[in-house]
Amino acid sequence: MTVSRQTQLIFPTPVHIVDFSDTVFCDKAALAVRAILDNGEGGGDDICWCTPDNLDLRPEFAEIKNIILTEIGKVFDYIGLVRDDFYMTCMWANVSKPKNRHALHPHANSYYSGVIYLEAPGIPGNIGFKDPRPSSEMLSPDYVENSIFKLRTIEFEPKKGRLIMFPSWLHHGTRPGNFDENLNRISLSFNIMPRCVITDHTRRITL
Ligand SMILES: [Fe+2]
Repeated sequence: MTVSRQTQLIFPTPVHIVDFSDTVFCDKAALAVRAILDNGEGGGDDICWCTPDNLDLRPEFAEIKNIILTEIGKVFDYIGLVRDDFYMTCMWANVSKPKNRHALHPHANSYYSGVIYLEAPGIPGNIGFKDPRPSSEMLSPDYVENSIFKLRTIEFEPKKGRLIMFPSWLHHGTRPGNFDENLNRISLSFNIMPRCVITDHTRRITL
């Protein structure tokens, strides 16, 4: 008797990770972020400072913006997105002390989002993504290992030069870290929108 069995993982939640070995462009961007802070721009408190969200418009961030957009293009190719073009709607940096944590949140008014770590000292505090399936925790049995079938939050470790991209609807947050109080975790976050004509019947729109 022939039996055919298969398991398909449907409705994927893609998180795309790119690790750059040459991080000189991160050093340059970190320097530019510090200059913004020194200039008194942005807001926050003594555990997290956030720059204005228009870094994508500033020439000192053009290099890192181009690197990000190149990678976003590869992501959009991978998922098969039909588009004329795409653009960054905003970009901002968070300069964090070890204690800082970010509560779970999505990025509104955006199709894809991401973060790249410019500085990630010690144990910098993982970024965690929350299972987006409604009621997936209604029954949480034990599993033999911490596989994707068990975990309701999946975490990734920040590293200098690590770029993480994900759909903007995916809730994510950041754990506190453990590193020297005199150092900072510096992350650069961004939102992306496609330019396209969506032709789906009764759902037509030009973005
Ligand atoms: Fe975020």
